[in-house]
Amino acid sequence: MPADSGIAEAAAVLRDGGLVAFPTETVYGLGANALDARAAARIFEAKARPSFDPLITHLADTADLEKLVGPVRPAVAALAERFWPGPLTLIVDRPAEIPPIVTSGLDTMAVRVPDEPSARALIRAAGVPVAAPSANRFGQLSPTRAEHVVKGLGAAVEVVLDGGPTRCGIESTIVDARGAQPVVLRLGALALEELVEAVGPVSVRPGSSGQPVAPGTLAAHYAPRTPLRVVGGTQPAPAAGGRRGFLAFRERPADGYAAVEVLSPAGDVTEAAARLFDALHRLDAAGVTEILAEAAPDTGVGRAINDRLRRAAATWDPAG
Ligand code: TXA
Ligand code: MG
Repeated sequence: MPADSGIAEAAAVLRDGGLVAFPTETVYGLGANALDARAAARIFEAKARPSFDPLITHLADTADLEKLVGPVRPAVAALAERFWPGPLTLIVDRPAEIPPIVTSGLDTMAVRVPDEPSARALIRAAGVPVAAPSANRFGQLSPTRAEHVVKGLGAAVEVVLDGGPTRCGIESTIVDARGAQPVVLRLGALALEELVEAVGPVSVRPGSSGQPVAPGTLAAHYAPRTPLRVVGGTQPAPAAGGRRGFLAFRERPADGYAAVEVLSPAGDVTEAAARLFDALHRLDAAGVTEILAEAAPDTGVGRAINDRLRRAAATWDPAG
């Protein structure tokens, strides 16, 4: 359904406990009424998501935060004020109205106001906070187009709102600003530099805590089906034999790859982030045996790109 004309119907589905996939400025989300434990349970089922991986609650307006959770720490309020609507997720105390399944039993809750008019209109029309992880099966590539959602989740979703390709292309930055110094739990579409400019020094701890605080930070995640390897330094010449794909940051590699995607001919990390998952979806569908991916410059959103590539390259080893 088109993202604009489908809103009333999609909002009704949400209120009835159904699942609606919708565009945000980062990636497509798989939404359910966050006040309804059964609806939230359906998200975990549809995504085959482990129950230990908490969901992000989405609100229509910044002012809805304190209506839902009560007063928050000044640092949290300041970040919300500065960056919402936008690709920043904040950690707050879980209010009693939000059932524990949404937060995987944590007494904290991740929350954000997306910067996408149709998403905010949907949440407003539904009249409830909307729990939404990325609309992909657990561990797989994130969806940046409605087609990706349909391909990955299919009949598990009642409605997919199609708002075209998402603007940022990479998930929100997750920040816990409740303590003395803000901690970045997941690198994302809000660049670290912008965050530091607003709040001063932050620490970056994606996944290092060893506890499932932000499983988007699990070592293996965001993975294509095709094995992926990250290459640094100069572009490698294509090896003989096999069909390989190449994900280039800026320059096309030498001939010899069966499929090539260039993220940003202009060398712009923001543009590259917007194209990252779409390019990986295409390479994954190109029938290659391996994808070589060139690292992005480690600045701005480039850091989040490299974070996603590293996790896409890691193999899933629950024992490791
Ligand atoms: O950009 C985004 O954030 C997208 C769009 C749809 O808003 N959503 C998204 O959701 O990326 P998901 O489920 O794919 O990733 C949510 C991340 C997970 O890594 C989860 O562990 C973390 O947020 N998270 C959720 N609640 C948390 C909490 N209370 N404390 C720490 N991390 C939390
Ligand atoms: Mg995800």
